[in-house]
Amino acid sequence: MTILITGGAGYIGSHACVEFLTAGYDIVVIDNFINSKPEALERVKDITGRDFHFYEIDLCDGPKLEQVFIENKIEAVVHFAALKAVGESVEVPLTYYQNNIIGTVILTHIMQKYQVKKLVFSSSATVYGSPAEVPINETAPLHATNPYGRTKWMAEEILKDLSEADSSWQISILRYFNPIGAHISGRLGEDPNDIPNNLLPYITQVAIGKLKQLSVYGNTYPTPDGTGIRDYIHVVDLANGHVQALKKLDTIQGTEVYNLGTGKGYSVFEVIHAFERVTKAKIPYKISAPRSGDIAICYANPEKAEKDLGWVAEKGIEEMCADAWRWQQMNPEGYLSNTEMYSSLA
Ligand code: NAD
Ligand code: WQD
Repeated sequence: MTILITGGAGYIGSHACVEFLTAGYDIVVIDNFINSKPEALERVKDITGRDFHFYEIDLCDGPKLEQVFIENKIEAVVHFAALKAVGESVEVPLTYYQNNIIGTVILTHIMQKYQVKKLVFSSSATVYGSPAEVPINETAPLHATNPYGRTKWMAEEILKDLSEADSSWQISILRYFNPIGAHISGRLGEDPNDIPNNLLPYITQVAIGKLKQLSVYGNTYPTPDGTGIRDYIHVVDLANGHVQALKKLDTIQGTEVYNLGTGKGYSVFEVIHAFERVTKAKIPYKISAPRSGDIAICYANPEKAEKDLGWVAEKGIEEMCADAWRWQQMNPEGYLSNTEMYSSLA
């Protein structure tokens, strides 16, 4: 079975490519490298010992995307390609609506034309906004608080409308909680372009000495230690969730939504301590003002994914920290480390 993976060079996409190839699927990948590097795909090939077709194209370029469907016998699509920076989405909302919404409409339009109606879609726990209760069920009310979140929420609605109009669509909407960690080889991981926005990449960059200290955004939340609580999930567990979701698409009529999380919440302090325990590194931090738009507590009820998909997250917080740290140490400059190493040898 051949699967099209959009955004396959990105953080989650590259790990998913490995899991799909290892599970025996053939893949075709598209990416425009707006937030990733070609090196990630070279490493996917090295790790799996398998080759695949790659197209450097923009999802929004309909004619080029259509060519991919003409040249390959695509049977299902796993759609990761999107912009994901919350702060940036507030500054340039149209760029986010164009890329994430129009991109999804163009993709599904072409899928419909070529009678490819199996889709696994990357959504986010951000669509729950500030949840009224935890753990969060898939049936909780949706309330996105920023343009990025709204692109995910709107894309979900578009997919639901599509499958209501034509029930031969089989769509799995996966709402990820907080993906962290890296491939066990240390060769794939999260490679932020700039100063990281997210907690774990910030911590690893402090640990390696690229950043001076972590700012802990608020210690007066209504949580046991006052810092924000999240459901961190290992990126490889998350990637496997896509393989399981794809395997189960045949059982879906229309659209199904699944939380992909561990069901456990960790505070910022608990993450810092777990990281220090595992790596023996020291993370200097200071308490800063809460970050605008942040919520106190967010963790999943992942039971639906377990029941329907037979999927559970297996890796714990210490493994997540150890793998993130291995990636950071082996790739101090992210995917450029390799290129720089070769050019300094030349
Ligand atoms: P990422 O930025 O690392 O990966 C996205 C990939 O899509 C990148 O390789 C980027 O170059 C590519 N891309 C973006 N727009 C494109 C376009 N128009 N055409 C072609 N390629 C394009 O992000 P990620 O963390 O791997 O996230 C993957 C998906 O998961 C996204 O849809 C994101 O919104 C969603 N998600 C991520 C998180 C998270 O914390 N990382 C949480 C919830 C949901
Ligand atoms: C986690 C905790 C922070 C950085 C974001 C997006 C969300 C989703 C995942 C895509 C919070 C605290 C963080 C730092 C800190 N992405 N923190 N110092 O905010 O839960 O979710 O990424 O869909 O849409 O909003 O993740 O890693 O940024 O923060 O104290 O330097 O760490 O306040 O409590 P978040 P995060």
